[in-house]
Amino acid sequence: MKVTVIGAGAVGATCADNIARKELCNELVLLDIKEGVAEGKAQDMMQTATLLGFDTKIVGSTNDYSKTAGSDVVVITSGLPRKPGMTREELIGVNAGIVKSVCENVLKYSPDAIIIVISNPMDTMTYLALQSTGLPKHRIIGMGGTLDSARFKYQLSQHLECSPADLNAVVVGGHGDTTMIPLIRLATWNSTPVTNFLSTEQQEKIVKDTMVGGATLTALIGTSAWYAPGAAGAALVESIVRDEKKLFTCCVSLDGEYGQKDICLGVPVVIGRNGWEKILDFQLNDSEQAAFQKSADAVRSMNDVLKTL
Ligand code: APR
Repeated sequence: MKVTVIGAGAVGATCADNIARKELCNELVLLDIKEGVAEGKAQDMMQTATLLGFDTKIVGSTNDYSKTAGSDVVVITSGLPRKPGMTREELIGVNAGIVKSVCENVLKYSPDAIIIVISNPMDTMTYLALQSTGLPKHRIIGMGGTLDSARFKYQLSQHLECSPADLNAVVVGGHGDTTMIPLIRLATWNSTPVTNFLSTEQQEKIVKDTMVGGATLTALIGTSAWYAPGAAGAALVESIVRDEKKLFTCCVSLDGEYGQKDICLGVPVVIGRNGWEKILDFQLNDSEQAAFQKSADAVRSMNDVLKTL
């Protein structure tokens, strides 16, 4: 099994580190456009192999895509991160050019790869990857909802004073601060609805804090977060290479599901060796479906910006 991570910045390097520690592949390639960065980080990570006890070979590359040849999975993290006060949407101009050219280069050497998109604005970058490559839709997966759902579980665990591992909770819709939809009605604590244990005020706060989870960290750190985004990318890689068929919320191409077409948006999907394998219908109620429609409208107008670039 071979995995490539494009972009050796904060998110890409963290994702690669997680992939190596879990020994998800024999060969892991880290590629960046900045001279020497990927080689340096690959070497640094390889020097943890004896300390952490993993056997994955990590190779760094400065923009040489021949090193990525034959990858089964490619994770795209290249692009600008947010600065404090910025929305993910403001990154569209620069990151669209980067994601498009990266996809072209990747497919020259790995025509059968499954592509995971992390670069922001993630919903639009996933749509762009699908449109520009023409790949079968099951092979293009946007990571956003996986991260947002992990952040949702974190917020819930803080209020419930419980282990996040005991929670099931998903965020659907877009990956923007105003477009994501934490489905608190469906969230459970070991199969009991979390709403049984939380006041209305607590529920509202959890939903709100989840939605601005990324912006909160950007304000604290000065750039966008990387530990959870990197781990979320690696969790998807794991479900693919081990054919785990785990359920994640991912941004995928919709063809009538959840009432939407010609858009990539976050919905619950089974992730396995073939990419995203099926979409689950969580039977949204009227207000959740209305929020999903609003989210789709916002993402669609952002996708329209692609036509002007
Ligand atoms: N090809 C390869 N690498 C590139 C390219 C390119 N065309 N353009 C930029 N890069 C690299 C940069 O050199 C940098 O090392 O992408 C890396 C991005 O790393 P960071 O600046 O540390 O950004 P990071 O925090 O990792 O975020 C990356 O993920 O979560 C999203 O919003 C975030 O879009 C951003 C992306």
